[in-house]
Amino acid sequence: MRPRIAYRPMSLRDHRRAVALWRRTEGMCVTADDRRAGIALYLRRNRGLCFVATSAGKLVGTVLCGHDGRRGILRHLAVDKRFRGKGIARRLVDLSLRALARQGVARCNLFVMDTNPSAMAFWLHLGFKPLDDDYRTLQGAARGSLPG
Ligand SMILES: CC(C)(COP(=O)(O)OP(=O)(O)OC[C@H]1O[C@@H](n2cnc3c(N)ncnc32)[C@H](O)[C@@H]1OP(=O)(O)O)[C@@H](O)C(=O)NCCC(=O)NCCS
Repeated sequence: MRPRIAYRPMSLRDHRRAVALWRRTEGMCVTADDRRAGIALYLRRNRGLCFVATSAGKLVGTVLCGHDGRRGILRHLAVDKRFRGKGIARRLVDLSLRALARQGVARCNLFVMDTNPSAMAFWLHLGFKPLDDDYRTLQGAARGSLPG
């Protein structure tokens, strides 16, 4: 019998296993922001928006989701290779989008790397649309010292 897939909000206790999944997942970029302190901050700021999927207690999928009061953003959608094609990613995305709606956020963006056409095909299949805007993403550093 196939093990049941369970879904629940992500907690900091999932951090180590989530990083392990991200590291073994193609197309995922694990950065300094994914250290424990970074994920603790993200989960605190975006309570109830990030989810994990588990099978027999093993973490098999993740999605991070946050918002800035106007737009949601999805990050780190990953499903363990052995568990793909079972609707896990669709369900994780649905959970985050429903949680965003409950918080009053109607639209959600995400970034897809040019080097990940398979992810692009996935998002298009789910009904996400590329925006017409032609812009580059810029970044600056926060000023002053960081806590911790
Ligand atoms: C993309 C990914 C998350 C999909 O996970 P999954 O659990 O296998 O996806 P699901 O089973 O929920 O698929 C949902 C639907 O999308 C379709 N789909 C899945 N992967 C697809 C792909 N690469 N291209 C097009 N459609 C795809 C499925 O056929 C399914 O269709 P249906 O519901 O209409 O029958 C998984 O392949 C993965 O972890 N990829 C590597 C990480 C990654 O690229 N993440 C996205 C970063 S932007």
